[in-house]
Amino acid sequence: MEPRIGIFDSGLGGLTVFHEVAKSLQDWTLLYVGDTARVPYGTKSKETVTQYALEISRFLVAQQVQALVVACNTASAYALPALSETFEIPIIGVVEPGAQRALALTQNYKIGVIGTEGTVRSEAYPQALRALHPECEVLSQACPLFVPLVEEGWFEDPETEGIARRYLAPLQEAGVDTVILGCTHYPLLKGIIQRVMGLTIHLVDSAEEVARSLSEQLKGHALAQTATPPEHRFFVTDAPERFQRVGRQFLGGESLQKVEKITL
Ligand code: DGL
Repeated sequence: MEPRIGIFDSGLGGLTVFHEVAKSLQDWTLLYVGDTARVPYGTKSKETVTQYALEISRFLVAQQVQALVVACNTASAYALPALSETFEIPIIGVVEPGAQRALALTQNYKIGVIGTEGTVRSEAYPQALRALHPECEVLSQACPLFVPLVEEGWFEDPETEGIARRYLAPLQEAGVDTVILGCTHYPLLKGIIQRVMGLTIHLVDSAEEVARSLSEQLKGHALAQTATPPEHRFFVTDAPERFQRVGRQFLGGESLQKVEKITL
């Protein structure tokens, strides 16, 4: 059996994480689940998101993945402890790697976190940041309109920029020097966010950080030799055609060959 990593998200956005992990761990076959029937997670309760995350993880563990990546920030913020208690394989979320990277970059220890309502409400990022550096100041801002704007493909539109200015104003006023993009979709708005915040502000992309951290964790993991490049698989809980169509923009234009529909 080829070495496998399971990755999941509430829908399409986690493909940003898939893209980075596929680049960094080229010998691994990736199995991606997008819970497109139940997206969004960002507005749902901790109990509901945890139950969804457990169901998806059970599916992936049954496919014999050797590690699990929780690409969704909301699921990472709410469900990571329950997942780690339930499964024995390494499980990596996006919060811890993002927090570590932000602390490596900041100079004034004023850090902004942007994410879904659920991620902000969970306080997962401020807790992870303060656990590592108790004196840092953290300012969180939910940006719920960013997800639909990205799904619409409005990465560089004036409307998006206007909304970004409004959401990001409190972070600018607070003088943060680092902003964690705490949602799967936000790396696609990096250009606008950087422009609005200013070119000297550090942006932390969770997708890149997870790939880096996972490579570290799996370094030295004995891999079965495979002659052919890995054939990644994509599963969704609804509307595979939409996933295939919109998913391209999350993969830098690469197309998705086949998307399978599953029932959890
Ligand atoms: N994947 C979610 C996250 O990173 C964003 C979309 C949703 O609300 O489900 O928090």
